[in-house]
Amino acid sequence: MNQEWWKKSVVYQIYPKSFNDTNGDGIGDIPGIIEKLDYLKELGVDVLWLSPVYDSPQEDNGYDIRNYRKVDDLFGNMDDLERLLEEAHKRDLKLVMDLVVNHTSDEHPWFVESAKSKDNPYRDYYIWKEGKNQEEPPTNWNSVFGGSVWEYDENTEQYYLHLFAKKQPDLNWENPKLREDIYDMMKFWLDKGMDGFRMDVINFISKDPEYPDGEQGDGSPYFMNGPRVHEFLQEMNKEVLSNYDVMTVGEMPGASPEDAKHYTNPENEELNMIFTFEHMDLDSDGDKWNWTNLDLVALKENFEKWQTSLHGVGWNSLYWNNHDQPRIVSRFGDDGEYRVKSAKMLAICLHMMQGTPYIYQGEEIGMTNVRFETLDEYRDIELLNMYEEKKEQGWSHEELMEAIYVKGRDNARTPMQWGDSENAGFTEGTPWIQVNPNYESINAAAAMEDEDSVFYFYQQLIRLRKELDVITDGRFELLLREDPNVFAYKRIGGAESLLVVCNFSSREVELDEEVYQQVEGNPVVVTNDSGKENRRMLAPYEGVVYRI
Ligand code: NOJ
Repeated sequence: MNQEWWKKSVVYQIYPKSFNDTNGDGIGDIPGIIEKLDYLKELGVDVLWLSPVYDSPQEDNGYDIRNYRKVDDLFGNMDDLERLLEEAHKRDLKLVMDLVVNHTSDEHPWFVESAKSKDNPYRDYYIWKEGKNQEEPPTNWNSVFGGSVWEYDENTEQYYLHLFAKKQPDLNWENPKLREDIYDMMKFWLDKGMDGFRMDVINFISKDPEYPDGEQGDGSPYFMNGPRVHEFLQEMNKEVLSNYDVMTVGEMPGASPEDAKHYTNPENEELNMIFTFEHMDLDSDGDKWNWTNLDLVALKENFEKWQTSLHGVGWNSLYWNNHDQPRIVSRFGDDGEYRVKSAKMLAICLHMMQGTPYIYQGEEIGMTNVRFETLDEYRDIELLNMYEEKKEQGWSHEELMEAIYVKGRDNARTPMQWGDSENAGFTEGTPWIQVNPNYESINAAAAMEDEDSVFYFYQQLIRLRKELDVITDGRFELLLREDPNVFAYKRIGGAESLLVVCNFSSREVELDEEVYQQVEGNPVVVTNDSGKENRRMLAPYEGVVYRI
């Protein structure tokens, strides 16, 4: 078996809660995923990544796990999951689980035990500390979901650490016993035949043992890429991963290309690839809710940095969307007049790069952000907490709603739009979160009937990746660095090279003369604007790939 199959693969992320409901409870389920496997096969992806389906109180939609070895009743049961695995494998699709081991739910039996007393055998499975003094928590760190990262426990008179919600206490990776339990749990899933893991905030597992205060409450330098993270991952690799032919991708906020080299260089025996956040942070001022317009020059330089740093050393993952990000067509494209055109252009831009591309459910039909009228239609703990916190800081309701429209995670979590029947064909019950009202025109059934749809465009790009080795192996060279509208780059291979041109603006722009000279008369490999004579002028949101 080729150990590096994931380099040629395209991954499709399923957010089970919003994918397909078969029992009418308004929540997607595993039988619903099985029902859609043929659709996914038709798209041409190779790997499915499931966001968490484990038993959970669902404080953070399953990223708060109560039992790592049980499927949540909401989604079905272990038989369903095993059937999904079998049905996926029958179709030559691999299945990757979400591994959430920076924290658990506070309802996990380990935490329940841990909270009982200071001398409980599980006490050390979590991070408990004395306050600085009577009133102050151990550090000034702010939680990702607002408030302090420390929660005081009256019973044992200590604080526990939670980088996310109060109900998501952080595990103590310093404890070898905990690590062993995690590795056993990973083997449990891999022995069932799972094909790998996406690892939730895995670069947060090692904390600075000094627990210093952070500048303005920012504790991230003390828990991102911490002192023992490489050691832990190497141990995990040795104990578990190296014994299976699986793929791994670590979610890593705050990881630089230098960090990524370390994590993904096969010589270090850690992970196959990581998710960077740098390109997703370019349209805000550091606080994601303070959004700004995209600076294309910065985006291009960022991709260049990642593409060139990891080339020949480690491996990139490529993504525009996931369950935490707003929809890319609304974000860097145009979800109005040029929705289809810009969705395709964005697909070209990403899918011609080096790395493993990830498609998030609905991206393949150009699903857009949503604008619910009232706050109570929203479900996400992050945005609801943010609303309260920023309201107190003086933000107006209008400003807050606008921030939610642009950046809220629920943009990605509205139900998958399967058809134009009620609730977009997602459920026959009441959906746990409303469907985007545009489902009547934007849906998978309509896309399947239209040969020019975004769906078939993704299918074409996935096929190209299989056919042209230069997409997997070639070198990246950025062109037109300072151009504020056009993202152009080359992929240089031994036998063949490609030149990619993407117009990120809603205006017609003239292609730079030097680039035009390179492509003139050369065959077009793929474009979202076929049948066009004049290749010197780029139409709004045009994307085109030439063989040179
Ligand atoms: C990252 C996940 O992608 C996100 O959805 C979750 O809220 C946090 N990690 C906490 O697990």
